[in-house]
Formats: sequence, structure tokens, C-alpha cells
Amino acid sequence: MYDLFITVVLISLGIFIVVTGLIVIALWRGKKEKAIPEQDFGSSKSEIFWMTGPILILIWIFVISAKLILTMNAVPKVHPADANAEIELTVIGHQWWWEIQYGGTSIISANEIHIPVGKKVRVKVDSADVIHSFWVPQLARKMDAIPGHPNYIWLEANKEGVYQGRCAEYCGTQHTWMKFKVYVKSVADYEKWKSNAEASFTRTSQSLGKSSDSDKNKTSGKDDPNLEKGKQIFLNEGCVNCHAIDGKTTPNIGPNLSRISQRKILGAGVLSYSTENLGKWLKDPQKFKPGCKMPDFKFTDEQVDQLVTFLESLK
Ligand code: CUA
Repeated sequence: MYDLFITVVLISLGIFIVVTGLIVIALWRGKKEKAIPEQDFGSSKSEIFWMTGPILILIWIFVISAKLILTMNAVPKVHPADANAEIELTVIGHQWWWEIQYGGTSIISANEIHIPVGKKVRVKVDSADVIHSFWVPQLARKMDAIPGHPNYIWLEANKEGVYQGRCAEYCGTQHTWMKFKVYVKSVADYEKWKSNAEASFTRTSQSLGKSSDSDKNKTSGKDDPNLEKGKQIFLNEGCVNCHAIDGKTTPNIGPNLSRISQRKILGAGVLSYSTENLGKWLKDPQKFKPGCKMPDFKFTDEQVDQLVTFLESLK
């Protein structure tokens, strides 16, 4: 990209020098010779020369730009067996949040992406409903998320840190609140994060499996009765029909809530994460994100507290 920029600057500089040089020479000669020089109107020789020159230069710039664009888009449809391209993500746009699946693991998250620094991450961009556009301005170009037509893009960060992402294609009333964050970690921190997440999903799966057993008296929240009550609300009041909590792909009508207490944002950016804000959101999501798929369940304050206790226990 930098090479193309320099080449175009050099071409423009050359044209600038030739044109201003000719003007300066003309001014200088005009002053010295006074008399108007002989004119050559309708000279086909100079017409052809001044037309073909610029056309050839434009064709040249077009060819080198097109070549670069083709290499930028060359993301293989099959994950390459390249040590630098070992991570594969699937990012799915929903109205109005992002689902993120980590290839080769059971990890599914929402509105946050964790990647190791210096590694090429191949991202498959897809959509569950309308056209969205996946965009992390500091890391990669925009990529359309089109239902039924996956696109591929490379994501690569050279510096650790948190990068902001957003949806860059109008997709409905809450298009603004379709933000996400990209956490770029050291390779060791990324591996640690990955194993913690996988262990957490296994724990959650097992605890959910237990609750369907006959011994319902055996609560998993030994010290906190709110925890078990919250779990029962989650499983019986409809939450579980839209939200997965143990790294499963279904249901994916609403964001996967696995390890939600580790997140920094709620409602794809509409609220920052805190225990208090999670409660406010559960009390009436439509107040914060009108039109989102989550209805107001008319939970009592007590039920909200119980649900928050349960959701925050998913660590
Ligand atoms: Cu999704 Cu705009």
C-alpha cells in the first residue's frame, strides 16, 4: 500500500515539475523575446502526443492499483495451513449485535473478539438477517456481512490493546448500537484466555446437565439461594429460548451470555457493563434499545437480582 502511495506521489511530482517547468520557461522567453511566437493550431502531432501521454499514465496507475487490490482481497476460502494464520473466526451480524465463533474451539461470544498480537486471523463474515458491515478501522478495511454469502477478511494487529469495532452499513433503527471491541493480547495471555473460556463452558454445560436430573433439591448455589432461583428463571421464563450460556451455537436469537460478567459493554455498546446496568437492562431492555428483539419481561426487582446473580456466576 505504501509502495503504491509513493509511486503515485512520484508520478504526480514528475507531472508537476514538467508543467510548472514549461510555464516558467514560457514566462522567461516571453519576457526576453517580446514578440508572439509562431502558433501551431490544429497540429495533430502535438494533439496525439498530449493525449496518449496522460492516457498511458492513467492506465499504468490503474494497473498497479488493481493489482494491489486483488492481493488485498486474496483471503483463501479454505483455512491455510500457515503458522501465521492459525486462528479462524466466524463473525455473524445480527440485528443488532455480533456473534463471534472461535474456530477449533467451543468458544462463542458476543460483541467482543480476542486475538493474539502479530498473528493473522482469518475472519469469515456472515449475517443472520440483513446486510451489515464488519469494521475495525484500525485493523482492517470494511467487509460486508451478507446473509447466505460469506466474505473473508484478514485481521491482524501489531500492537496489544483494545480496538473499537462497529457496523458500517445501515441495518435498522439500532444500527448505531452494533459496536464491539477487539482485545489484542500477547500470545500467552490469549492462550490463557482461551483455556479459561473453554473450562468455563464445560463447567456451565455440566451444571445445566445436572439441573435436568431428577435431584432438583441439589442446588449448585450452596450459599446463595438467589443463584439457584436465578437459574430457574433463566431456564423457565424464556431466556434460554434465545440465549446460549455454554458456548453452544444455538439458540442464537440473542447474544451468547457465556461469561457475561467479563464483558465491558452491554447491548452492543448501549450500556457499559456493570452489575447495576445488567439489572437495568433486564428490567426493561426496550428502554435502552428500542426495537431490539428482547421484550420487557416485567421481571420484579427480586427476580432481576436473582437473574443477575445467576448470570454473573457464569465465570
Ligand atoms: Cu448492523 Cu448496521
